[in-house]
Amino acid sequence: MTLVGLAVGAALAAVALFIPWLPDQGAEQARIVDNVYWFVTIICVAVFAVVAGVSVYAVWKFRAPPGDMDDGSPIHGHTGLEIVWTVIPIILVTAIAVYSSVALAQAEDLPDDHMVVEVSARQFAWTFTYPGVQLEGDQPLTSGELVVPVDEPIEFRVTSEDVIHSFWVPEWRMKQDAVQGITTRTVVQPTKLGTFPVVCTELCGLGHSTMRSQARVLDEAGYRRWIEEQRRRAREGASVQGEPLFVSNCGSCHTLAAAGTQGQVGPDLDSVLPGQDADFVQESIVDPNAEIAQGFQPDVMPQNYGEMFSEQQLQGLVEYLLEAAGGGEQ
Ligand code: CUA
Repeated sequence: MTLVGLAVGAALAAVALFIPWLPDQGAEQARIVDNVYWFVTIICVAVFAVVAGVSVYAVWKFRAPPGDMDDGSPIHGHTGLEIVWTVIPIILVTAIAVYSSVALAQAEDLPDDHMVVEVSARQFAWTFTYPGVQLEGDQPLTSGELVVPVDEPIEFRVTSEDVIHSFWVPEWRMKQDAVQGITTRTVVQPTKLGTFPVVCTELCGLGHSTMRSQARVLDEAGYRRWIEEQRRRAREGASVQGEPLFVSNCGSCHTLAAAGTQGQVGPDLDSVLPGQDADFVQESIVDPNAEIAQGFQPDVMPQNYGEMFSEQQLQGLVEYLLEAAGGGEQ
């Protein structure tokens, strides 16, 4: 038994120590959150080891000899012991509460002059708006992909247009619910360059698992180049915007070979669009219940795209779809 116990203990210790349990740390907040995580985990491991150790020892030490059918001797309690096992948890829980509060305050600490990104969630896509970056005609920059500069503290103001979603980039750790009608906030200071997944982490409907985007962390110069690129695209007009608009808003639910998307929630556009005209495509976007493709349910696709897209965006999307799916005359 002792050998088996030691072997199992050694195997579990190896699993605990040698598997990288947490994602890479991609933000200052990740370091802070991970410290809290390990602080709590170590306390839990210590408490478990003491409780399990005492239990195993008691089972072994006080076991009844074979043939002994007597009742055990009566127990009258032990005031000293009870004080100890009440005071220690109070100290531990208080320590966890204090440490977590300090960590949260540190993680959400922001200089007065900081970058803001508005995050809007919708079944089943993300839209990121940069109120500090104006395009032509004072429109703020919006994107289906989150692009941010490294080492800059960013305040994310999160909301939803329909059901509850949750904004999360695992490498940044900070997670925030997106709720219709209110604006929640979270703060991230990315410290690592690269591309990370943006994940919806609240079960929000049929397309929940596909509700993803990406966060690209660029250096200062790369970020400025990206903004210039977005400005240029906005100037060049609607049709150029069709593809990114489609990928970020529609791709998680619809397959379209030309855009490289493979969503399965809604109809496969490569098979339902060919031969259709602009009116049909436009109606399918703004009033998806008007005609439901065979094998699909009404009310799955949001019905507010008509309000969400500008006239120009809608036009660009329709043109793009007709072109991409080899549709008929416009
Ligand atoms: Cu949105 Cu899950």
